[in-house]
Amino acid sequence: MRILHFSDIHLPPRLLSVPFRDWFGKRVIGGANLFLGRGREFADAREKIVALDRFRRELEVDLVTCTGDYTALGTRTELRNARQALQPLMQAPLGYVHVPGNHDVYLFDVLRRRWWDESFGDTLWSDLPECVVNGEPWPLVRLVGEDVAVVAVNSSRPNPRPWRSSGRIPQPQLDALVKVLAAPDLAGRFVFVMTHFAPCVEHGVPDKPLHGLENADDFLSVCADLPRGVILCGHIHRRFTARAEGVKPPIFCAGSATKAGRESLWVFDVDADGGRATPGIWRDEAYMLDPGAAVLV
Ligand SMILES: [Fe+2]
Ligand SMILES: [Fe+2]
Repeated sequence: MRILHFSDIHLPPRLLSVPFRDWFGKRVIGGANLFLGRGREFADAREKIVALDRFRRELEVDLVTCTGDYTALGTRTELRNARQALQPLMQAPLGYVHVPGNHDVYLFDVLRRRWWDESFGDTLWSDLPECVVNGEPWPLVRLVGEDVAVVAVNSSRPNPRPWRSSGRIPQPQLDALVKVLAAPDLAGRFVFVMTHFAPCVEHGVPDKPLHGLENADDFLSVCADLPRGVILCGHIHRRFTARAEGVKPPIFCAGSATKAGRESLWVFDVDADGGRATPGIWRDEAYMLDPGAAVLV
């Protein structure tokens, strides 16, 4: 089975389309940053998503996963546009599994006014609905074919303070994740555990406190004994793979699929015996594999 993992596409907002009432707090600062430069890094994101779907079809990818940050400011218009842009990738034969990034739930209005749910709620169904907590979609489980399972937990939340972009997986989700990973339905499968925030960076080093996953140690200890699988994440805009001490599954960060000059992703090939992860790169206006840099998983 072939699985595509991408992240952090940060589709650029049309700033003039954001209603006046939605401009307050951190969104003003974020909008100014986009206007002053950061927006240029993602200016071609829409075209790259079209190319990404072409790459998905050429490679005969079975399942697509995304670890969030579709938007920049989490406005209703951005989320609606993101859904439209992502729709072709959601047609992968064995499905599409994703989590929100912190930019997709930028401020509390996104949750209060249910903008994320409005655009993506219908995509967040689970094959183990008895395991979700508090009426939320998480942990979301997909049993894919005979050999693979995907388990998604949500670590993103509004961060109204401008200097903070950290995340946390709520404790009830971690408690439920313990049960999910021990469920008979997952036995013998290769399991992808995915969330937006990276539980560590290269060489297993913790991310910075104001940027990282606050309860990374708790999350990693829940995943520590997973016999076959990997942890997928995004949030950090560079691709890497890492191992955390005492944790069996390796960690794969997809970086950003669309950031100019740093475009990256992973393609996993998994069968009953083992798996391989191959980096994807952007060259000559197209995504392609870099087989020389593949790693066994
Ligand atoms: Fe991001
Ligand atoms: Fe992020």
